[in-house]
Amino acid sequence: MAETMKGLKRTHRCGELSAANIGETVTVMGWVQKQRNKGGIIFVDLRDRAGILQVIFEEAECGAENFEKAEKLRSEFVAAVTGRVEKRAAAANENLATGEIEVRALQVRILSEAETPPFPIEADSRTKEELRLKYRYLDLRRPDLQKNLILRSKIATTIRTFLSEEGFLEIETPILNKSTPEGARDYLVPSRVHPGTFYALPQSPQIFKQLLMCSGYDRYFQVAKCFRDEDLRADRQPEFTQIDLEMSFVDVDDVIDATERMVARVCKEAIGLEVALPLKRMTWDEAMNRFGSDKPDTRFDMELTDVSDIVKDCGFGVFTSALEAGGSVRGINVKGQAEMPRKKIDALVEFAKGYGAKGLAYLSVLPDGSYKSSFAKFMTEEELKALVKAMAGEPGDLLLFAADKLKLVWSVLGALRIEIARQLDLIDDNKFNFLWVTEFPQFEWSEEEERYVAMHHPFTMPMEEDLALLETEPGKVRAKAYDIVLNGVELGGGSVRIFQSDVQERMFEALGFTKEKAHEQFGFLLDAFKYGVPPHAGLAIGFDRFVMLLVKADNIREVIAFPKVKDASCLMSDAPNLVDEKQLEELHLRITE
Ligand code: AMO
Ligand code: AMP
Repeated sequence: MAETMKGLKRTHRCGELSAANIGETVTVMGWVQKQRNKGGIIFVDLRDRAGILQVIFEEAECGAENFEKAEKLRSEFVAAVTGRVEKRAAAANENLATGEIEVRALQVRILSEAETPPFPIEADSRTKEELRLKYRYLDLRRPDLQKNLILRSKIATTIRTFLSEEGFLEIETPILNKSTPEGARDYLVPSRVHPGTFYALPQSPQIFKQLLMCSGYDRYFQVAKCFRDEDLRADRQPEFTQIDLEMSFVDVDDVIDATERMVARVCKEAIGLEVALPLKRMTWDEAMNRFGSDKPDTRFDMELTDVSDIVKDCGFGVFTSALEAGGSVRGINVKGQAEMPRKKIDALVEFAKGYGAKGLAYLSVLPDGSYKSSFAKFMTEEELKALVKAMAGEPGDLLLFAADKLKLVWSVLGALRIEIARQLDLIDDNKFNFLWVTEFPQFEWSEEEERYVAMHHPFTMPMEEDLALLETEPGKVRAKAYDIVLNGVELGGGSVRIFQSDVQERMFEALGFTKEKAHEQFGFLLDAFKYGVPPHAGLAIGFDRFVMLLVKADNIREVIAFPKVKDASCLMSDAPNLVDEKQLEELHLRITE
């Protein structure tokens, strides 16, 4: 039978004791990691969130009753131990923070018994993730997850402190909102009181934070839960957390400055990393042309080269026909990989096809200077030479080319560059390469909707010098939008906002909204702007992603206490799930097959 806490008070966490406590009598509480009974002496490793402590029971010291209890201890029992801290009799255990000491037990209470857990509670678990997620409460006992969540908490505190020092106010915005479909799919909540109507969960607090600027709060932030019904990936969850902020009377540089100082402070306090400020900046154009990505991983080179001019009159139809159709031919130089086996090259071709490429042309510059290539036979010696030169190809290099619409060439080579760097182990994971990507295009053409859609969101201000193009050449308009990128991951993004109602109306028009539709969806924002609105700008950092990158986890689930899996379900609670017929009735809902 479990005992109680009556008369007991914890003096230390297990992992907090050190040689400095030798000689003290302490009371610790935690979970039994391991119990070893060596006859007259019992060793118990007791664990709490601070670490593991060795406790020793000898009958002569603790008495028969306590010794009997110690004999009963099993893995994951919860126990309280009072004892004396001593220098470890055996050699110190360098793997433990408490490795120099042990506690000689005087008294033990069993606070809770435990069944054998379905998997061992240990760091670097080899248990399948599905099982761990089903028993997430046990998984969360493991030291690696505890380390991640403890760091996550610390980072949140650092951010709150920093932003509050900078004059930001933490203000909550509503979770039950009106649906404003632009961006990802909404999660909807049916209303009981208003039959047939729905709230939408926020994809971000965007409109509310802009209204707070209208209302004079000047600097706002929120650790904001956001919900997006989109396909999940390693760095995406259906519900996630943003460090969301907005500032009044500012322009691009002010937001960038505040954000990068915040990020640098977090890096320093969380992992002792010195980040040199100001961070590098690169326009969207440069990022796409050099890396084929708006979130370039700059920890390795292998940049893209435009060879369209070089091959425009060559004999290889794949290249020339792509160019004739208004496309582009670009390549990457994989240094020293000329002898990559055909099988591996074929796999890269398949990889490229996965990104929509029709193929991938290759040319190996062999050590003797001759070529091995999928297209050499279509080109003259001169044409090949010029191509290799343009690619800075040297004997030993493998050159890979994609020919297609520019957008596709970028995405294929951008992805290929990263895939190859991973395969060849070219990425130094001790590097933290931050980068601002600026001057994003205002619009993106949506083939699906056959209209321009906002690349960031419809409240983003175009660059002043491009405003005149809004009606005539929307595809050329650049936005006052910026992303902060870390090691090839979009860490956060934001923009300067439109604060003039006439510009906002023009923007909605460019996006294909009728006046009525714009007012129906965003009327309260447009109205608010009629009553005196300060110029404002802001940004949101993906908090989960930030923590994930700082702890070098490969998946965002490693830094979220109760994450969802790929199909957006929770393996522990079985959400989403059916509800009672009565609940549906109250909500005026009927399920159709
Ligand atoms: P954006 O949509 O770029 O901007 O989101 C900001 C940051 O949030 C993170 N993020 C996600 N993290 C985990 N799972 C997801 N599904 C997910 N989606 C986004 C990313 C991203 O950079 N309101 C604007 C910000 C602004 O303009 O101020 C916004 O939400 O790290
Ligand atoms: P094909 O003439 O289609 O057999 O293609 C000859 C070579 O060009 C093969 O190596 C293909 O993989 C490659 N290729 C085909 N289409 C493209 C493309 N759009 N871009 C780059 N290479 C391509």
